[in-house]
Amino acid sequence: MLRRDALKLAAIAALATTYASAYDEKLIVNKKKMEIKDPANMTELELKHSPEIKVGAADAQGFSLVEVNIGQKGVIHPSVDNHWIYEIELLADGKKVADVSLEPTTSRGFLAARVNTKDVKILSAISRCNLHGEYSASIKL
Ligand SMILES: [Fe+2]
Repeated sequence: MLRRDALKLAAIAALATTYASAYDEKLIVNKKKMEIKDPANMTELELKHSPEIKVGAADAQGFSLVEVNIGQKGVIHPSVDNHWIYEIELLADGKKVADVSLEPTTSRGFLAARVNTKDVKILSAISRCNLHGEYSASIKL
């Protein structure tokens, strides 16, 4: 291996270390898929964990700003040491188009992506809480 290649490898390893998740994986204690019991009368816990999906107007190329907040009707999920949304996925017609990994206390449940929604029928989002499991929501376009 050339010295230059070795230096590149060392730099990449240092970056990987710097950008690894800060949280302890052992804090994720619930990975169960949760179901909303009565969508017309969601509990506060269900509202707090359900993604709220908003879609902006499409630009000339067909890309819309899609924003996902975790928490519906203003019931926002917390982000504290031992309780936070650690991951959000955005799907267009069941196919993943964006995801985000989040850290306790420093980032809160939110994802934004520009998505070509021209031929998309359903946008879905999945939120993962370290304590309360996986919740999802969908909207029709
Ligand atoms: Fe939670």
